[in-house]
Amino acid sequence: MQDLRTGIEARTAKIGIVGMGYVGLPLALLFTEQNFPVTGLDIDAAKVNSLNQGKSYIYRIPETEIAAARARNFAASDDYARVAGLDVVIICVPTPLNEYREPDLGAIQATAKAIAPHLRAGQLIILESTTYPGTTEEVLVPILESGNRSGVVAARGAADSGNVFFVAFSPEREDPGNDTVARRDIPKVVGGLNHAASEVAIALYGAIFNRTVPVSTPAAAEMTKLLENIYRCVNIALVNELKMLCLRMGIDIWEVIQAASTKPFGFHPFYPGPGLGGHCIPVDPFYLSWKAKEWDFQARFIELAGEINTAMPYHVVDSVVAALNRHRKALHGSKVLVLGVAYKKDIDDLRESPALTIIEELQRRGAEVSYNDPYFPQVGRGRKYNLQMKCTPLENLSQYDCVLIVTDHSSYDYETIVRDSQLVVDSRNATRGIRSEKIVRC
Ligand SMILES: NC(=O)c1ccc[n+]([C@@H]2O[C@H](COP(=O)([O-])OP(=O)(O)OC[C@H]3O[C@@H](n4cnc5c(N)ncnc54)[C@H](O)[C@@H]3O)[C@@H](O)[C@H]2O)c1
Repeated sequence: MQDLRTGIEARTAKIGIVGMGYVGLPLALLFTEQNFPVTGLDIDAAKVNSLNQGKSYIYRIPETEIAAARARNFAASDDYARVAGLDVVIICVPTPLNEYREPDLGAIQATAKAIAPHLRAGQLIILESTTYPGTTEEVLVPILESGNRSGVVAARGAADSGNVFFVAFSPEREDPGNDTVARRDIPKVVGGLNHAASEVAIALYGAIFNRTVPVSTPAAAEMTKLLENIYRCVNIALVNELKMLCLRMGIDIWEVIQAASTKPFGFHPFYPGPGLGGHCIPVDPFYLSWKAKEWDFQARFIELAGEINTAMPYHVVDSVVAALNRHRKALHGSKVLVLGVAYKKDIDDLRESPALTIIEELQRRGAEVSYNDPYFPQVGRGRKYNLQMKCTPLENLSQYDCVLIVTDHSSYDYETIVRDSQLVVDSRNATRGIRSEKIVRC
């Protein structure tokens, strides 16, 4: 334990990060900036090769950053035997829902099984993947303990040395595309399995984050992340529902939110949209509502918010139908250009994007759909979709019966888009300030 603390202070502690995705790779770069030697582990050989060739596969991470990290002792590997030589292993693997919208911990379990045989005393293992309270203690630790050869166990109670490894949970709280808060300024919540694990994990994150927030248990840290995301999910559902009412009443919800936001206390603005997207908000709340059932508890707010948010892409499609109808056209056979497929503006992340549901539903109802998104030259196969579409250039807009704004990327020139289109359906208020009969806000 003291060795690890000394290694952290001296920046010689060897850090391993499992999962070189949107969370793991930036985290690896933060550690390399502080001169820690970092190994990025991943089962995806293409990612490992890219990183070792100094290439980036995440839009907002330039290759210069990978090159700088490599110069500071960063390497990627798919060989989990390397865990034996590491002092810290941080797990950042996906936690999706399965087809029944239940937690799928397959990646955490597979990772735990892969690293367990290589564990040794004194190591620190941290889970960062978002998950339900109890995962670290009930799922991760038992696999790590039963799968290692040397008989090391997780440090519990007062243990701070001996044949033990240390375990903590620390949620990732990044907001992709948000450049207003530097990653190191986002306080890091940490809950260790025992006091010693908390202490060493706090020391580790204190080396790269400006503030750490210790909580009493891994479950409290797991629940903290879920509270944050459920708070967003429920409030987004609330404004989505109020938007539907405002549309019916002829009130501009955006104007209302802006006015309410002038209140200096007690109000935080959330914005309506075409539906939830991303890895977190549409997924994480259901981790808790699933776990709640084990305790004979119905998490009703979560289920209701899910119902409202899931309906939003269908509301957008219905709005396109109504807008075309006013032009005496049917959706069937109409040419629709979808602008933006990323789940939110200015990012290259397609996961759970409402655009995918909207495109599929438009096609199902007979529309001829094209899309444009500067971040996606093509959209192939995802977990649920297999669209196999190519990005259409943003030209000759008058050929489309309807241009549908799903993602309000900043690079779009909305004045020109409205000028050149026959009809614009705007699900994001991207055309605010533009007055035109052609715009239908939904
Ligand atoms: N993306 C975000 O903004 C964000 C924010 C907060 C929390 N999180 C959470 O962080 C975790 C990781 O998310 P992400 O966005 O980095 O995911 P990602 O899909 O971008 O990356 C995950 C990486 O893990 C790798 N991996 C390693 N072992 C794996 C295995 N056994 N099965 C599948 N993949 C394996 C994948 O190849 C991939 O490179 C998730 O729990 C997510 O909920 C994500």
